[in-house]
Amino acid sequence: MQNTLLRGKTALVTGASSGLGVDFARQLAEYGCHLLLVARREDRLHEVAQAIISQYGVEVTVLPLDLGAENAAQVLYDQIKAQGKVVDVLINNAGFGVHGPFVNGPWGREKAMLELDIITVVHLTKLFVSDMLARNFGYILQVASSAAYQPVPGYAAYGAAKSFVLNFGEALSYELRKTNVHCTVLSPGVTATEFFQVSGQPLTLYQRLTMLDSPTVARIGIKALLAGRPSVVAGAVNATLAWANRFAPRRLAVVIADQMMNKA
Ligand SMILES: NC(=O)c1ccc[n+]([C@@H]2O[C@H](COP(=O)([O-])OP(=O)(O)OC[C@H]3O[C@@H](n4cnc5c(N)ncnc54)[C@H](OP(=O)(O)O)[C@@H]3O)[C@@H](O)[C@H]2O)c1
Repeated sequence: MQNTLLRGKTALVTGASSGLGVDFARQLAEYGCHLLLVARREDRLHEVAQAIISQYGVEVTVLPLDLGAENAAQVLYDQIKAQGKVVDVLINNAGFGVHGPFVNGPWGREKAMLELDIITVVHLTKLFVSDMLARNFGYILQVASSAAYQPVPGYAAYGAAKSFVLNFGEALSYELRKTNVHCTVLSPGVTATEFFQVSGQPLTLYQRLTMLDSPTVARIGIKALLAGRPSVVAGAVNATLAWANRFAPRRLAVVIADQMMNKA
């Protein structure tokens, strides 16, 4: 790999036990980045860590933690500080969705989703961005979703949480524009990971036809991050739809989203 910018730096990847998180970790290791891997499933994190260490020879530290728990971001930040480690790259990737009509949804699970997908993302960013600014070096990747670009029936709260992440990340990117700390929002469309198993949704035809593989989506995100782009939508179809949504009346956009995500 040509780019030596991240060689010897350290990346914190949340949600590194499956899906996109594993691919972010692998690809950052390819760049020579040491890794801090976080998720709840410790055994899976160790498997990922072992595979990366043997292939790339970088240092990998496993930090098992429920990032949806009260004050989880502070707990993680304190653990990392206590180990004397510095975070140069923050990949805010851990997240999940709850699928189904909002009125029937289980509040406990929805609340846990909002804590993880919003509160922990913002809190981790707040904690690490200050240190990055003090060192005048840093990269932050916020993982949103193509669901961020319009209301999505069936994913009402999840989609809205990802709209938050998109707007938060793009605003922060602008605030940081005169510094050497960069923030990029990656919006994946349907990606082959454990996401739909967790959300409990059988895939629609549209979702099966447009699905991208996880290494491709991770690569798009890291490329945009290193290029200092404020945001990127993964894949030509998803990017075109996100762009076209700007011109569609919102009452139409919600109907189209329902068709694609729940019916087609
Ligand atoms: N796949 C898609 O189609 C798609 C589309 C748009 C956006 N996204 C976004 O992409 C990101 C990655 O998801 P994915 O597709 O890779 O799904 P995934 O395979 O289900 O991975 C989710 C990761 O988040 C971790 N996680 C979940 N709850 C956690 C918690 N409470 N504390 C710590 N870690 C937790 C999981 O690990 P543990 O279970 O071990 O904790 C896992 O490593 C998410 O933010 C998701 O919203 C995905």
